[in-house]
Amino acid sequence: MAGRIPDAFLHDLLARTDIVELIGARVELKRAGKEFKGRSPFTNEKTPSFFVSPQKQMFFDFSSGKSGTAITFLMEYDRLGFPEAVEELARRAGVEVPREGGNEPRVVVDGPLDALAAAQRFFTERLRHAPTAIEYLKKRGVSGETAKRYGIGYAPDSWDALTQFLQNQRHALDAGLLIEREGSSGVYDRFRNRVMFPIRDTRGRVIAFGGRTLANDPAKYLNSPETVLFHKGRNLYGLYEARSASTAALPYLIVVEGYMDVVMLAQYGVREVVGTLGTATTREHLQLIFKSTAKVVFCFDGDRAGRAAAWRALEQVLPEMADGRECVFMFLPEGQDPDTYVQQIGAEAFRQEVERAQPLSQFLLDALLKQANVGSLEGRAKLLSLAKPHLQRLRAGTLRTLLIDELGRRMRLSREDIEASLGSETPAAAAAPAPAGKTPEQLPVSAKPVRRALQLLLEKPELADRVGNVELLLQSELPGLEFLLEVVDFFQLHPGARAAQLLSFLGEGKKADAISRVLASDLNDPQLGPTLAAKTSDEAVEREFLDVLNYLNDQALAARRRQLQAKAQDGSLSEPEAREWRALAERTRGSGKSPR
Ligand code: UTP
Ligand code: MN
Repeated sequence: MAGRIPDAFLHDLLARTDIVELIGARVELKRAGKEFKGRSPFTNEKTPSFFVSPQKQMFFDFSSGKSGTAITFLMEYDRLGFPEAVEELARRAGVEVPREGGNEPRVVVDGPLDALAAAQRFFTERLRHAPTAIEYLKKRGVSGETAKRYGIGYAPDSWDALTQFLQNQRHALDAGLLIEREGSSGVYDRFRNRVMFPIRDTRGRVIAFGGRTLANDPAKYLNSPETVLFHKGRNLYGLYEARSASTAALPYLIVVEGYMDVVMLAQYGVREVVGTLGTATTREHLQLIFKSTAKVVFCFDGDRAGRAAAWRALEQVLPEMADGRECVFMFLPEGQDPDTYVQQIGAEAFRQEVERAQPLSQFLLDALLKQANVGSLEGRAKLLSLAKPHLQRLRAGTLRTLLIDELGRRMRLSREDIEASLGSETPAAAAAPAPAGKTPEQLPVSAKPVRRALQLLLEKPELADRVGNVELLLQSELPGLEFLLEVVDFFQLHPGARAAQLLSFLGEGKKADAISRVLASDLNDPQLGPTLAAKTSDEAVEREFLDVLNYLNDQALAARRRQLQAKAQDGSLSEPEAREWRALAERTRGSGKSPR
């Protein structure tokens, strides 16, 4: 008997299938807005009550009550069993249906992960027997405890030490640990005579290594190549360690460049630190960071190169800024990197500098003002044209408002003039004007914000990437929030997936039922969402989703503040919690709201 069909395959299969084409071959469909409609193929109903949504990759039949994915449709319409329906779709897509427990490997990445875990054991074991490497780490001030926490190891000065140790060379090759010899057969160790830093994913699994040479190799650091598991632009060194250092929400995450910077800051007690592995910060890095904290602290060298790097980071962070998120820039004195600096001034002083770091708005304004002389008309015009591309990257929100006001003051222009010059493609221009007498924060959100967020998310799953600080959101303890975040997680993990894939992933049960109900409800139902003015345009969906998200964030912050306040009152507030409490109070003040 054939084994189970893997979820990942079903997921992929639905992604390859065009439900409109599939159903359109069997039922006459006409376009109706974003959807297609026709007469129910399951009842004799004469009025069109059957809808197919290309966006959700689902069908809905309001006369029979049936709804579902392409698989469900084939089961119902062609009266096929589940496996037959899957076979039929696979045949159309020209792929074969794999079965678990068959000859197919179960999970492709298991092998390389095993090889990496074995290599990690090997490197740490070899460090214990490598006096030169131990001596080197001592000289750099790395303690035994730190080496252990970060899993630091040593790759021996040999072409085949790891090769000999590993069971499965195929997996080790896939993991980037070994290199295939050119021409002839055989493999050799990628890392030789290097101090090894394991790079972990957010679940703590080793997915790659960085190695620092102990010889004078021109490549001072060598990283694993990009593999199925490891992408430089998507992984951060030390994130797992930072997150597991404390169960409290992280007040911030400091972004530094190097392995030694992360390790040494952590050793001094500044554990909220991640490294970009020598690449420029990417948006994906920032999305990852904002899942763990609301504040990112960029730490750069004070020299020209550092300023240039900060500027590149600024460009990446602008589109990720949302209300409740914060970004600051910290510049080190010439000739220092975070590793040497923290050793010189200590953790307390380092943290003080973090507190004094330049807010994004100030960094941006200063940089712009340096390039344009606002004393002249030409200079003011230049300032506007310099500021324009940056403002256009910002979402509507407090930061954008603040920057526009400040620029307006310097340029002696009104907010409206600046907004107008930014053109219609900007988020602010798309944003509904706030009704007189109301600030944007007071715009009504749906009476059922969690459900509404879910509905909007199912309409536009790309929005999952806009959800930042999951840990924080969970603090609000609103019913359904956990499930919403599960759905967010699903769409973040499966870029390009539609509601149909989520449904197939959930299988049967309460969760699938809940999703089906939300999917069948009308996005324009006035009971659910009052703010969708322009039907269901993409921007309207996105804008409302961000509004609801902001609201949920505020709720979470308030809940957390209440929690900490209660603790403060009964005297059980810990030092990190006290810090968090102060930061929360400050943030509320900073965003111009009065504490409730
Ligand atoms: P640095 O050259 O500033 O290294 O590169 P560092 O951390 O201060 O090195 P130490 O203190 O001499 O040990 C910063 C980061 O850039 C990447 C590494 O991630 C390094 O930590 N890098 C650097 C490379 O990937 N390859 C290199 O050859 C050099
Ligand atoms: Mn250094």
